[in-house]
Amino acid sequence: AIERTFSIIKPDAVAKNVIGEIYSRFEKNGLQIIAAKMLHMTREQAEGFYAVHKERPFFKDLVDFMITGPVMMQVLEGEDAIAKNRDLMGATNPKEAAPGTIRADFADSIDANAVHGSDAPETAQQEIAFFFTENELCPRTR
Ligand code: CMP
Repeated sequence: AIERTFSIIKPDAVAKNVIGEIYSRFEKNGLQIIAAKMLHMTREQAEGFYAVHKERPFFKDLVDFMITGPVMMQVLEGEDAIAKNRDLMGATNPKEAAPGTIRADFADSIDANAVHGSDAPETAQQEIAFFFTENELCPRTR
């Protein structure tokens, strides 16, 4: 089915100047960028976005990292977009990411792991709504 997923290019990958290389992987694999914005998140935004992880031991480090610099956020649309984006990203820990995935190629550590992508339809919808209003989404098919 055609799905939407939420994607973040994290501060490490923005600092490496590889936004375009990552966008190219999305586009070459049938994912369309239907919304995008660059943002240097406040601590409150990062804590709110990652609220589901707030009891996890890595929460503080994760939030600290995500506000070290600007991120690029986008909504991707396409056939099986959620799973496809997760395949393109590779494993959360770059040490375990398959060769040729975004994290294998650009990530340095489990926090500085280049990209975020929604893990399920419900979280995709919540994450998109956290940063984008309905009228900021620009699907080609309308
Ligand atoms: P992300 O997909 O952005 O969602 C939560 C982030 O927490 C994850 O990517 C990692 O960057 C970070 N993180 C740090 N430690 C862990 C861990 N042990 N398990 C999962 N995520 C972790």
